[in-house]
Amino acid sequence: VIAAFQPKTLTGKHVLLTAGPTFEAIDPVRGITNLSSGKMGYAIARAAREAGAEVLLVSGPTALPPPYGVRRIDVLSAQQMHDVVLSHAAGQDIFVAVAAVADWYVANASDQKLKKNADGDTPELVFAQNPDILAAVASLPLHQRPYCVGFAAESENLLEYAEAKRQRKNVPLLVGNIGHDTFGKDENQLVLFDVKGHSSLPRANKLQLARQLIAEIVSRLG
Ligand code: CTP
Ligand code: CA
Repeated sequence: VIAAFQPKTLTGKHVLLTAGPTFEAIDPVRGITNLSSGKMGYAIARAAREAGAEVLLVSGPTALPPPYGVRRIDVLSAQQMHDVVLSHAAGQDIFVAVAAVADWYVANASDQKLKKNADGDTPELVFAQNPDILAAVASLPLHQRPYCVGFAAESENLLEYAEAKRQRKNVPLLVGNIGHDTFGKDENQLVLFDVKGHSSLPRANKLQLARQLIAEIVSRLG
């Protein structure tokens, strides 16, 4: 179904999303990242725009063009993603956290490029925990808080871990990816967790799933 024929269920609504990986610097030319392609988050941004929403996509480094009509702000680190998201969160109707945010940053990142030395010593990286962007938005005061949707890519015990994560982050809807074979792929299979239990969106391409997810969010917005 082409975009023009999507139901305009989000006209006048503001939707904020995160997508892609983050990049945590080790030095000015090196860093730690992950294999998130951004495809799922970009597909949801596109689907929200098709549904008539004004969409702001806060994206880590990806190879993807911004979806038509979507405003994108590019970031590298989890801390930058956190700061941009928190400065735009109030006034949003919906926040969908799809980014694969690094759990840790390098606390002893170097201002200068690290050099090898003659002894063959290797660098020691010290890690510190990044802020939890989704949990921060989900704990905003009620009048500033968008409807929050989280994602979880679990490699085992999806049903148990995903519902526990939903409750821990205090979000009304958490979307589980089945398996860990979704990064970079064009297809995915989702399980939705809310206060009533869980339900599945069968394997499909990411744009189809994104449109279904938007419909599921709209139905829960009331
Ligand atoms: N998330 C976030 N900020 C972080 C970590 C995660 O916003 N610093 C968001 C992700 O975008 C996703 C959800 O939280 O929507 C779950 O991410 P996940 O990595 O599965 O959960 P964690 O709480 O980091 O737990 P763990 O990685 O240990 O399973
Ligand atoms: Ca994590």
